[in-house]
Amino acid sequence: MRYNARVSDSRKPWGGRFAAPTAVPVEQFTASVGFDARLYRQDIACSIAHARMLAEQGVLKVEDSQRIVAGLEEIRTDIEQGRMVWDVALEDVHMNIEAALRERIGDTGARLHTARSRNDQVATDLRLYLKEEIAGLLGQLEQLLELLAVRAREEADTLMPGMTHLQYAQPVTLGHHLLAWFEMLLRDRGRLVDCHGRMDECPLGAAALAGTGFAIDRERSAELLGFARVAQNSMDAVSDRDFCIEFCSASAMLMMHLSRMAEELVLWSSPAFAFISLPDELCTGSSIMPQKKNPDVPELVRGKSGRVYGHLVSLLTLMKAQPLTYNRDNQEDKEPVFDTVDTVRACVQMFALLIPAFTAHRERLRELAGSEYMTATDLADQLAAQGMPFRDAHRVVAQAVARAMAAGCPLDQLESLEVDAAVLAPADSVRARTHTGGTAPDAVRHAAAQALERIRDA
Ligand code: ARG
Repeated sequence: MRYNARVSDSRKPWGGRFAAPTAVPVEQFTASVGFDARLYRQDIACSIAHARMLAEQGVLKVEDSQRIVAGLEEIRTDIEQGRMVWDVALEDVHMNIEAALRERIGDTGARLHTARSRNDQVATDLRLYLKEEIAGLLGQLEQLLELLAVRAREEADTLMPGMTHLQYAQPVTLGHHLLAWFEMLLRDRGRLVDCHGRMDECPLGAAALAGTGFAIDRERSAELLGFARVAQNSMDAVSDRDFCIEFCSASAMLMMHLSRMAEELVLWSSPAFAFISLPDELCTGSSIMPQKKNPDVPELVRGKSGRVYGHLVSLLTLMKAQPLTYNRDNQEDKEPVFDTVDTVRACVQMFALLIPAFTAHRERLRELAGSEYMTATDLADQLAAQGMPFRDAHRVVAQAVARAMAAGCPLDQLESLEVDAAVLAPADSVRARTHTGGTAPDAVRHAAAQALERIRDA
């Protein structure tokens, strides 16, 4: 990005009532163009819609509006081709683009800011930006959900130890485990869809805070910008950033889930577990230990969850003591929002690479699924099904497990099991769990097929 260091107070749209130029350190301190230039596309779209609406309403002459629109389109090209010189003295993306317009088309450019304020402008730009990014993120999430459902179907018969307390608990299938991840992310998608729907309203027309006396058509501005509706209160429209907070909240939850999934990939790929291997192209090495292959990608996803939680807390704190309406505090909303977008989208992208690419060590997983007396619950269940109260059945089997452990043998090799039931193999244990949400291979295949439909339905 190119910056102009020169102090150019005469170009400041608000300079009229000031007798002295802004102190240079204050200019630096208050400027946001270093980061909000990222909103240039939305800012130009917002201005074009505003100019069109003003012309349709007879507030601007049609020729003026056309010159403004053409000028703004040329500025967009300039920005995209790296020809725009951003000036810190012009504070932000809005005043930089407006100044560029005046330079390009002269005094007509000065008519654009009729019936609006940077307050409704920035509130509109940011909503437009977030709506687009959320739509992109939702596309990525859908792809990841699909990859999970497909991989779950492939692993429907893959036995593995299911854990509670990180201790071996009961046999499950890997497909079932992957569908647990699917459910987590599907809810995250729902939260993002909800917040997208709630932020889909256009603040334009709210102006500084009190609306405007010009004969504007707010519905038309909203329509031109693709908003579902118009924000209903001018003071609320320029002031609240709850839509940013809600996005960061949904993102924090998504990152929490991705971090849990990442943690499992890290554990599973450790030789201590050896459940899976990650492919070389998704791992990195050590600069000192020549033999190392590290799961840095899931580790970084786990690590990056921290910054998104931080952004959520920043925004909540930024907002909580602001009196109505707009306060400059709100300029601090952008960097947390931008970094959340970048972080979450990158992490979902990484998972879309990881999910289809890891190798499940099926033989080892099957062996482990048959270890550690993990079908003891099935044994107790059989006794209970025969009429023994479950608590008694639990005690009988627990005592048998204690004896087997002392003898160092599996349950079915105990001298006398003293119960009229068979110790189940892990495959039989999972096969019995055919109910909705169960881990039986058939149930998993069915759930995976439904999962693919649920992605499309929602
Ligand atoms: N750069 C400002 C922001 O991001 C734009 C709005 C400025 N409004 C004002 N009244 N100073 O919030």
